[in-house]
Amino acid sequence: MTERFITDTLNRSETEFDISLRPQRFQDFIGQNKIRERLELFVTAARERGDVLDHVLLSGPPGLGKTTLAYILAEAMGVNIRVTSGPVIDKPGDLAGLLTNLERGDILFIDEIHRLQRAVEEYLYSAMEDFVIDIVIDQGPNARSVRLNLEPFTLVGATTRSGLLTAPLRSRFGLTNRLDYYEAGDLQAIIERSARILNVDISAEGAREIARRSRGTPRIANNLLRWVRDYAQVKADNKISPDIAARALVMLDIDEHGLDEMDKRILETVIHKFSGGPVGINSLAVSVGEEPGTIEEVYEPYLIQEGYLKRTPQGRVATERGYEKFGVKPGGGERELF
Ligand SMILES: Nc1ncnc2c1ncn2[C@@H]1O[C@H](COP(=O)(O)OP(=O)(O)O)[C@@H](O)[C@H]1O
Ligand SMILES: [Mg+2]
Repeated sequence: MTERFITDTLNRSETEFDISLRPQRFQDFIGQNKIRERLELFVTAARERGDVLDHVLLSGPPGLGKTTLAYILAEAMGVNIRVTSGPVIDKPGDLAGLLTNLERGDILFIDEIHRLQRAVEEYLYSAMEDFVIDIVIDQGPNARSVRLNLEPFTLVGATTRSGLLTAPLRSRFGLTNRLDYYEAGDLQAIIERSARILNVDISAEGAREIARRSRGTPRIANNLLRWVRDYAQVKADNKISPDIAARALVMLDIDEHGLDEMDKRILETVIHKFSGGPVGINSLAVSVGEEPGTIEEVYEPYLIQEGYLKRTPQGRVATERGYEKFGVKPGGGERELF
């Protein structure tokens, strides 16, 4: 089951472990400097004016800090946060219930906002723009619409698939931020911070070793740290050196570039089964035995960012680097390795 480590880590809902490591203030939020500075400024300006914060959209692959930032925004504004998610809101009435319970300035955090039902989404438009909702009561000839006034609130939306957001919804956010994969240096700092919180003895090089294999993703970094901590406890006197970190990660089938078994299977499939591509996402998904959505949200963005795979209008294509990974040359023929 180790090949599922990455998807499991990213798909799982937050555990207490994640929550204990979540930074609660901007000062503790490492990396993503541009976004952090932008949000801090946004908060300071709103606070100085005594205004309610305008609506914020956060997008990017799973595990990069969207939920964390939503909580930090609430903390920095000194307001309550209510958390829900797109697929959970069944009908407009559910949304009305949430909205009418908000106090002035409160944050409503909607995770996976691209998965809101159409009817629910349309209710959000007037709520976001004018802080009113029109609800229909009664049915048949007695049906009438009643307008409810809401307290001004801030909607923070998070999405792994900003491309699936409708234009009317997107246009109602005052600020849109796309989180990117973290640099190794930032991940190292995140691991060192987590190690301090968990009371784990790790050298800077040990943290670096884990950082390199964390797919640019803090949630993966933290979970790899947890695994390596367990390994060090059993095998190495609780001390995490680079060597111990590397050995622990080999046990999870995570290679030195942070690719796991599914990444490799995807690349190998494109190269061998589809002659390097182009191949459509659905055929690829069937071949590797994974959901198309998971490939698009979790695996592909990293493979593309690292230059193993390319997305073209015809489908996915393996790059030269992708071929090199498997010791083959584009256009066929195993490369002579020695
Ligand atoms: N910039 C950061 N600095 C430190 N830790 C972070 C940072 N971003 C995320 N994390 C850690 O990674 C975990 C996952 O982040 P989360 O906000 O849940 O990601 P997302 O909502 O984008 O999937 C958090 O619990 C937190 O511990
Ligand atoms: Mg989240």
